[in-house]
Amino acid sequence: MNMEFIPALRGSFNLNDYENAVEHFDWSEVEAKFSWFKTGKINIVHEAIDRHALSTKKDKVALYYKDEYRKEQFTFKEMMEMTNKAGNMFKKFNVLKGDRVFIYTPRSPEMYFCLLGAIKVGAIVGPLFEAFMDAAVYDRLNDSEAKILVTTPELVSRVPLEKLPKLEKIVLVGDEIEETDQIVSFNKHFEEASDELEIEWMDREDGMLLHYTSGSTGKPKGVLHVHNAMIQQYQTAQWVLDLNEDDIYWCTADPGWVTGTVYGVFGPWLNGVTNVVRGGRFNPNDWYQTIEDYSVTVWYSAPTAFRMLMGIGEELTQKFNLKSLRHILSVGEPLNPEVVRWGLRVFNLRIHDTWWMTETGAMMVCNYPCLNIKPGSMGKPIPGIEAAIIDDNGNVLPPNRMGNLALKMGWPSMMRSIWNNPNKYKEYFTHNGWYISGDSAYMDEDGYFWFQGRIDDVINTSGERVGPFEVESKLVEHPAIAEAGVIGIPDPVQGMRIKAFISLREGYTPTSDLEEEIRLFVKEELSAHAVPKKIEFKEKLPKTRSGKIMRRVLKAWELDLPTGDLSTMED
Ligand code: PRX
Repeated sequence: MNMEFIPALRGSFNLNDYENAVEHFDWSEVEAKFSWFKTGKINIVHEAIDRHALSTKKDKVALYYKDEYRKEQFTFKEMMEMTNKAGNMFKKFNVLKGDRVFIYTPRSPEMYFCLLGAIKVGAIVGPLFEAFMDAAVYDRLNDSEAKILVTTPELVSRVPLEKLPKLEKIVLVGDEIEETDQIVSFNKHFEEASDELEIEWMDREDGMLLHYTSGSTGKPKGVLHVHNAMIQQYQTAQWVLDLNEDDIYWCTADPGWVTGTVYGVFGPWLNGVTNVVRGGRFNPNDWYQTIEDYSVTVWYSAPTAFRMLMGIGEELTQKFNLKSLRHILSVGEPLNPEVVRWGLRVFNLRIHDTWWMTETGAMMVCNYPCLNIKPGSMGKPIPGIEAAIIDDNGNVLPPNRMGNLALKMGWPSMMRSIWNNPNKYKEYFTHNGWYISGDSAYMDEDGYFWFQGRIDDVINTSGERVGPFEVESKLVEHPAIAEAGVIGIPDPVQGMRIKAFISLREGYTPTSDLEEEIRLFVKEELSAHAVPKKIEFKEKLPKTRSGKIMRRVLKAWELDLPTGDLSTMED
């Protein structure tokens, strides 16, 4: 048993409040803070932007944006005007309540204007990570029947427009372009649009955000979130991110992933806090520079990034003034105790692990400022959340027993459906009243949760969820490949790396050129993060009699473990 712990901080949510909240807290207490309390109607962007723009906070900086080429800032009032303009632009393109507007651009202020502007007019926004390639983009736009796509002249070449009859308009952000009926210029229409908008008032249960994520079988699934999620997004940003009036907050995640929307947009802005966005790729110098330039106080990032920073060495941190930092958090993958110790050494701060998922819509199990941290543990359930370890029959297990990490249904930010796929949605609820996360974990005698792994075959590489089925399906589209099985293998920096076992069709021989070609094929069709870093060619792959590749056996081969029960394997 791990006995090490790092004592609590003071934070604005103190241990008394916490203990009291665990006993008595009810989400309805938070509801009273929003306007639906009076009107019954809501729009998350009103609460995140306009509410502050119409208050004494109007001239406070909402967004600091910086990348290699641009350095800009926008007050809450300016954000209201910009998102109004974007909203009016979408209205002109006939966006109606419930329509899907997808945003497929690198980070830029315009991305944030469009994301929020579209929600303002009642649309459901689908953010797409810029590294997605043709097939990945197609699957998502097709499944969601997107009406509008905001993208750039560079990225639009990856969108198979001819196969997407439902897509009415492509809005290109960037250089001047020659417009057609379908392809229009963001600059032009945004410029022309009024900065006053009649916001669309929504019901709490109306959709606002559609994030595609991977499971172990089937195509990526569209996780739908509703305006009601704001209750928990707002509250966790206070309790766990510990955001206060004067904080300068930086979340490093891209809005293509759920952390980048929920805590890169809504968490801070629902609380009226100044938000920093650093565009461009990970680069240690730029990252430390960002903390120094903006005097960042609260920093939310991911284990892979911390491990990369740790790998570069501590000398680099001495070249920057990082004294403004007061609170650091992590999400997306297991946070190694070693990284927590590194954080204590170089920042003199604890790194607070937080656990949640695309599906949960907000944080669930966390380390708060007021809790002692046990390095390696994800912390405890937040007030209002009941988490437990259950066995495969739905029985709650006692402490220190490993099982399914499950959550009692009924939290505000829970996904409301899987787009177009009610059966997939049902798969999460195999045990009465419990949401089954797919993670395995145990809870210790003090109520701390310890992540053990995924129960399914989902691969978490650098905090990005990759479905093995999606990669396998792509691989077998390559002319040389007969069969493919994909698993995650442990990696010290990325958490996991993707490995593909491949059997070739007759007439093909395994060569390093072919290996490279296969990697490029996946990269160009799906995305860089889905590329198998390791490929091993095999004569034959282990399959069940019904023809399913047995990833369990592949894992056992890889890790030199016993292969277990092989009774279902074909001869
Ligand atoms: O396996 C868990 C892992 O990431 C999965 C959720 O991935 P995604 O939906 O992409 O959301 C990531 C960010 C919210 C989980 O099922 N995961 C997330 N947080 C942690 C984690 N694994 C270990 N420790 C964490 N703190």
